[in-house]
Amino acid sequence: MKNLLKSLIDAFEERTGLLKIMADLAEHPVPPDTGWWYVFGSATLVAFIIQVVTGIALATAYVSSSGNAYDSLQFITTEALMGNLLRGMHYFGASAMVLLVGIHMGQVFLMGCYKYPREFNWVTGVVLLFLTLAMGFTGQLLRWDQNAVWSVVVGAEQAGRTPIIGDMLARFLLAGKTIGGATLSRFFAFHVFFIPAIIFGFIGIHLFLVLHDGISEPPVAGEPVDPATYRQKYEKIINERGVPFWPDAAWRDVVFCVAVVAAIFLLALIFGPPKLDNPPNPSLLARDPAPDWYLLWYFALLALIPHKLTTPVILLAPLTGVIVLLLVPIVSNKGERHPRYRPWAVASVIIIVMMIGTLWVEAEREPWSPDFEARPLPIAVVGTNIGPVVDGAKLFHEKGCEFCHEVSGYGGHRGPSLTWVGDRLTRADLTVRIMNGGYNMPAFAGLLTEDQLGDLVAFLESRRKER
Ligand code: HEC
Repeated sequence: MKNLLKSLIDAFEERTGLLKIMADLAEHPVPPDTGWWYVFGSATLVAFIIQVVTGIALATAYVSSSGNAYDSLQFITTEALMGNLLRGMHYFGASAMVLLVGIHMGQVFLMGCYKYPREFNWVTGVVLLFLTLAMGFTGQLLRWDQNAVWSVVVGAEQAGRTPIIGDMLARFLLAGKTIGGATLSRFFAFHVFFIPAIIFGFIGIHLFLVLHDGISEPPVAGEPVDPATYRQKYEKIINERGVPFWPDAAWRDVVFCVAVVAAIFLLALIFGPPKLDNPPNPSLLARDPAPDWYLLWYFALLALIPHKLTTPVILLAPLTGVIVLLLVPIVSNKGERHPRYRPWAVASVIIIVMMIGTLWVEAEREPWSPDFEARPLPIAVVGTNIGPVVDGAKLFHEKGCEFCHEVSGYGGHRGPSLTWVGDRLTRADLTVRIMNGGYNMPAFAGLLTEDQLGDLVAFLESRRKER
């Protein structure tokens, strides 16, 4: 039996040579003392693999049609075998992947690992970062609930502001003029076929380059990179002090990756997947979307900047981000690697982390986000209990105006307070406002009947200091 197995393996090896390639890969010499900072790359890869596995499993039960997507997710969450766990793992896996990509990138930057000869690997890494975020964005829509749908509407509105090609971009995102079944199909295709295929390709190049140029040796203060002599120096380190990748360096990766998998599994088990919001409802335009946490800070940025700056910021911020990241290895591909001699590198990482952190805290807080818990206005505030004013006050709550507008202490603060709006605006002003919307205020034309509009205006007109 044992002999049979051995001769099978030998025959396989004689024909393919795969086992030797694998053994060579595992044992190839790497610089000594790479340490725990080097585990984040492989951990990102492991998080990606979790996404592939759980994603395929979810796709076997998910229906990507606008009529059934929500129900199929409901089914996966409550009835399918381990469906709840799988959805949870896919969610926490995505979070882990974004987090790990970020840390990996920070480490590579701070330790100057992107310098000669690894500049190109930094570039492929930047592409992978944006592909990861694109996966997060497209994945959210597949949830096909209120929140997901409106996140994408906001995204499309932003894309639409690009000069010249804006309309085309928005249409491309939505697969049409408005969000609907075609949008879902498009996002599904991107999320499960197109973007993952590109990610696989780039991971391939990324890993090939890691092997080709070798794992960077830990930076030593006072030993700058000089492209003319670097390869020789690296060869010398490898030949004189190199250790086999497995097990000397890779054991840390294995330990950390097991911990990552365990953490994702436990989080999914304990907290489960994000709750599904209500199914999308086109007449409840009022929903101001909050995307998953890793994109939330960006939405906060868009909400906090002054109106006039929105378009330039929407256009320039992402573009600047990409360009700056791509320029990093071009501008500084030699010189000191150790963070101790690169105060600007350290400072910029701290500033970026603090900026994102602040925006994130801001995003978690009122007042820019609507108050979905707003309670209906009591009679004492409305001031009467009959007639169009009362009906208008009811609509003010039901149509979601109150999510964004405060009246005498009730409601959110996303838009201006309407407590005394009757003193400020005429009947015509009010009608135009409601029908056409405004900056960050949805247009309600088509969502209200004539009677409803009349009641709402009557209610708002009644909001005067002197009645
Ligand atoms: C998603 C949040 C949001 C919702 C929902 C919303 N609004 Fe607004 N609204 C705003 C914002 C933001 C502004 C300020 C617009 C601007 O400055 O261009 C505004 C402005 C207004 C104004 C003008 C106020 C002024 O002082 O100039 C009126 C009136 C108004 N909204 C009424 C309504 C009514 C009625 C509804 C419900 C049918 C509603 N809004 C729903 C966010 C919202």
